[in-house]
Amino acid sequence: MDASKDLQKFDFTEDVIQHFRENRIIPVDFYNKTGQILIHKKDMASGEDISKLLKFEQQGIFFLKSEISKIKPGRKGGDVSFTKLVNTELTSDMAKGASDLLLDIKKYPLNGSHVREISKSIDSILEDFKASPDMETGLVNIIEVMSTAGMPVDSEVLTKRTVVAMAMKVRAAKAFTKADLNQKKSEQVSLMMASYLADIGYTQMKIPTHGNLKTEELEYIKNHPIISYLMVANLNELDESVKSIVLNHHRPHKGEGVNNNYPQTKNLVQKLNFYKDKYKTDYKKSLLVADVQKQLKNVLINNISHEDIGIISIAGEFASLTTQQPWRPPIEALTAMKLILNNSFFAYNEKTLKDFYDHVGLSLCDNQPFIKVGDYVIVASQDSNRKVFFEICAIRESNKNSIRPMLERIGTIQPKFSNNGKIRISGFEPASLKIDRRRAIFNLDRNADPRRIIYLIDPELDPEFYESLDQKARDVFGVKTSTGDTEAVATT
Ligand SMILES: [Fe+2]
Repeated sequence: MDASKDLQKFDFTEDVIQHFRENRIIPVDFYNKTGQILIHKKDMASGEDISKLLKFEQQGIFFLKSEISKIKPGRKGGDVSFTKLVNTELTSDMAKGASDLLLDIKKYPLNGSHVREISKSIDSILEDFKASPDMETGLVNIIEVMSTAGMPVDSEVLTKRTVVAMAMKVRAAKAFTKADLNQKKSEQVSLMMASYLADIGYTQMKIPTHGNLKTEELEYIKNHPIISYLMVANLNELDESVKSIVLNHHRPHKGEGVNNNYPQTKNLVQKLNFYKDKYKTDYKKSLLVADVQKQLKNVLINNISHEDIGIISIAGEFASLTTQQPWRPPIEALTAMKLILNNSFFAYNEKTLKDFYDHVGLSLCDNQPFIKVGDYVIVASQDSNRKVFFEICAIRESNKNSIRPMLERIGTIQPKFSNNGKIRISGFEPASLKIDRRRAIFNLDRNADPRRIIYLIDPELDPEFYESLDQKARDVFGVKTSTGDTEAVATT
């Protein structure tokens, strides 16, 4: 057979071998480089069979590219562990280091030795996290660790954002080969470095310490990604990808349409051009000028890492909500999960949300799901003319924190929007609610349904709306969901 062009070299990782041993399985046929079968797939593989695989490693062993997903399937949704994964000492060291650095760079420029120190701290936390056998299923207990660290707000947010971003990135990575592992590690380090540095621009600004920001205060804050970027752009020690993520870290919404990205593309391009001209004759800033040119090009052709930017942005929102601010106490992790979803429509693409809730949602909340059977949610979908429709559904079946559960349609509704520099859904028009008796079922987990959940109607966050909706649904359907058990639903 001429399979050579469809073959991929298999460079074993410990993790994969462990998976074969634990499940006593050789999940695919393995070939030599000319496409001859060396080892057949086998369901009840012995330790000896698996050792045989290892012997072939030296001479090169291959599998069909199309079978890659069979090598190591993702973890099953039901697996959770209560192992605490966040190392208290290393994390406190990072937070302390960050606190010192943020004070230092108020007066002196960020330099190469700062970057080397940060790299060491990032590397130790990343390696420690990945070394845990429960890395994929354990608790990312960062809130607990930081609650006793006694750090200033900025350093607490920075550290939480970096650890949450790391956990998301590491858990989303499916590395099968050693080459993959190296590549993934360098991407993980870059993301963590960018997360660490994203908000350093605040050290050069006068940031309001009250809530309910006015539009002009929000507009002022929107300058911080560019200021952070200018502080890192001239450093040789930092990769272009890190600089790009810092610059774009509040631009996670991919695609067209109204969104809360900032700075918006036009504004960003104008500012980058301004700095390119300003520094073009300053030989000490030649690296910065060259980098600005690259970033300009990338912004214009939309060549930016949306995945990483989404991760930093959503991890940052979680970090900020769960940290005590001068104008409000810290918000519980479970409530933060709901608020992030309810503000997500103009902020994130569904992939970012899915990665967040699937990979770290449970483990940031002591394994308590934030979305449950019987909950009411609003879903949005677009038709071919880009008109958006909003429907109310009840969750009928749910797997942990998945935001693609099985839904039962209750009716349609119109949202209300507010915009004080940040556009959001501020509530729903009760009079626009139309109940639909057909009770259609949509299983978002099974098919490519264009609907996405954009809002959870929570009895504590939206008590009035929840009550009136719940009453109407019960009046029309008799029970809240098709499980048919009002009592059980009321206590979930
Ligand atoms: Fe930021």
